[in-house]
Amino acid sequence: MQTVVLCVVNQKGGVGKTTTAVNLGAYIARAGLKVLLVDLDPQGNATTGLGLNRAYIRLSTYDCLIRRAAVREAALPTELEGLDLLPSNPDLAGAEVELVQQEGREFKLREALAPVLPRYDLIFVDCPPSLGLLTLNGLVAADEAVVPIQCEFYALEGIAQLVRTIELVQRTLNPRLRIGAVVLTMYDGRTNLSDQVVKEARAYFGDVVARTVVPRSVRLAEAPSHGKPVMLYDPHAKGAVAYEELAAELLVRLDLRTAGRAV
Ligand SMILES: Nc1ncnc2c1ncn2[C@@H]1O[C@H](COP(=O)(O)OP(=O)(O)O)[C@@H](O)[C@H]1O
Ligand SMILES: [Mg+2]
Repeated sequence: MQTVVLCVVNQKGGVGKTTTAVNLGAYIARAGLKVLLVDLDPQGNATTGLGLNRAYIRLSTYDCLIRRAAVREAALPTELEGLDLLPSNPDLAGAEVELVQQEGREFKLREALAPVLPRYDLIFVDCPPSLGLLTLNGLVAADEAVVPIQCEFYALEGIAQLVRTIELVQRTLNPRLRIGAVVLTMYDGRTNLSDQVVKEARAYFGDVVARTVVPRSVRLAEAPSHGKPVMLYDPHAKGAVAYEELAAELLVRLDLRTAGRAV
């Protein structure tokens, strides 16, 4: 099976990118696939959310982007078998500035990941909340963009710009790229607003919107402070069940559900 690289992207902060990357990664690893989660955000929420203290990280995504280290050396195992993490630390904030002068600056992540593709079935890239050079590296490295949309006011604000950016990358730097899934997050069944966002997103994106909608779930928000994916924190929480279903749906969408590997 060819490795699939998924870039979790939305230039808005707080829409559920990291939560989606961490928890989909966890459930897909549990299904028996080898998963690497790349923390491409200098804030390092995926890193701390998986229980790693950023202060103690010796080699990070940053070192891989500037070619000071190989992903093989910098990637760390997590508590969950089958899920590795390429951690972020604050150095990554400097990468955007440092890489600007370099030739092929949009291809750094893709080049860094190339040697480890045979080791993983799936690679999730957790992007920062911007459309800067780091996110561009994520999109250039990816086969599929996964776009979380928060069921809130102004949910679709900025989406047209994001779609234009993805299309531009597709036309110029990475023809393989497509939007693999749009994930509706923090759905609150008590409000009409949430339903309205779901409707608008389906009207805009059509079938690319995942059937599974992720509800607002306190347990999902608590899990990172315990350094765990929700699966290991409270597997029966409604947010956990949703990500479990979403993982299964994604594998079908990506045609990754092969014999013996079903979620
Ligand atoms: N479905 C959800 N229900 C409740 N809280 C959530 C949910 N998804 C994410 N959160 C919380 O919302 C905040 C933003 O989510 P996060 O995944 O970090 O967004 P992003 O990576 O896009 O900035 C975090 O505190 C996270 O724990
Ligand atoms: Mg994040």
